[in-house]
Amino acid sequence: MTTPQPVLQIKNLTKHYGGVKALTDANFRLLPGEHAAIVGDNGAGKSTFVRLITGVEQPNSGDITLDGQSVHFSSPLDARDQGIETVYQTLALAEDLDVPANIFLGRELTRLSLGPLSVLNHKAMREQSATMLSTTGVKIQDMSESLRGMSGGQRQCVAIARAAGFAKKLIILDEPTAALGVAETARVEEIVKGLKKQGIPLIIISHNLRQVFDLVDRIWVFRQGRIICSRLTKETNPEEIVGLITGAIDPATLRSEEAVAC
Ligand SMILES: Nc1ncnc2c1ncn2[C@@H]1O[C@H](COP(=O)(O)OP(=O)(O)OP(=O)(O)O)[C@@H](O)[C@H]1O
Ligand SMILES: [Mg+2]
Repeated sequence: MTTPQPVLQIKNLTKHYGGVKALTDANFRLLPGEHAAIVGDNGAGKSTFVRLITGVEQPNSGDITLDGQSVHFSSPLDARDQGIETVYQTLALAEDLDVPANIFLGRELTRLSLGPLSVLNHKAMREQSATMLSTTGVKIQDMSESLRGMSGGQRQCVAIARAAGFAKKLIILDEPTAALGVAETARVEEIVKGLKKQGIPLIIISHNLRQVFDLVDRIWVFRQGRIICSRLTKETNPEEIVGLITGAIDPATLRSEEAVAC
């Protein structure tokens, strides 16, 4: 059986902050339609990895290939333009703006554009925002209210609806449910399952192993700034993943071919 061309392929990605080796020689791949989890202890390099592959920061070295093309993202906007949508661990939403303005932040719809002057199409942005939010099931009484008055869960759903609505190639969620209650977490997990049905590849960072085992096809383990292995979810179990995260299990001792995928 031949492996299809990965949507995303990462080779030897490295980022050091002075003496801090946040990420060293990371190798990673994501196949079409695949949902993958990234797990690892605090400080293992997970968010650094996300920032590097979405143009927030530049790596010291390494290659990123998207759909077979070598890419270099100079900014998050650049990555978005190429179909990668990200919900960062620290939410990037504007508190003083309402829901449609947040959803269309940086890609506002216009009715008329004359050189530097343009007229925003508020009606279209409101309507499309309502459609995107309806897919998340989140209830927001008044779309024209600023985000300041909303709960953490509602804000998270706005960010996820935005990402899910615009993602063409890939969606990345960095700990999307860490601050959410049980019901809100369940909603986010439903959204992720919906994206799986739509065939949109996804990377989720999570400390919640129950969630990881429920949602993804493959689990990538980060440890002390390195990706130490990937395991197919159906070939592993939570005890093994915990052992890999803590160092109690040496990935070299795992016999499956998946253990040597990196
Ligand atoms: N801007 C920075 N400057 C210096 N060191 C940094 C910077 N960003 C991250 N680091 C360091 O790099 C390492 C990896 O951090 P990172 O945020 O990627 O971890 P993480 O796996 O996402 O952890 P968590 O689970 O707590 O979110 C840590 O030691 C962190 O202190
Ligand atoms: Mg992090």
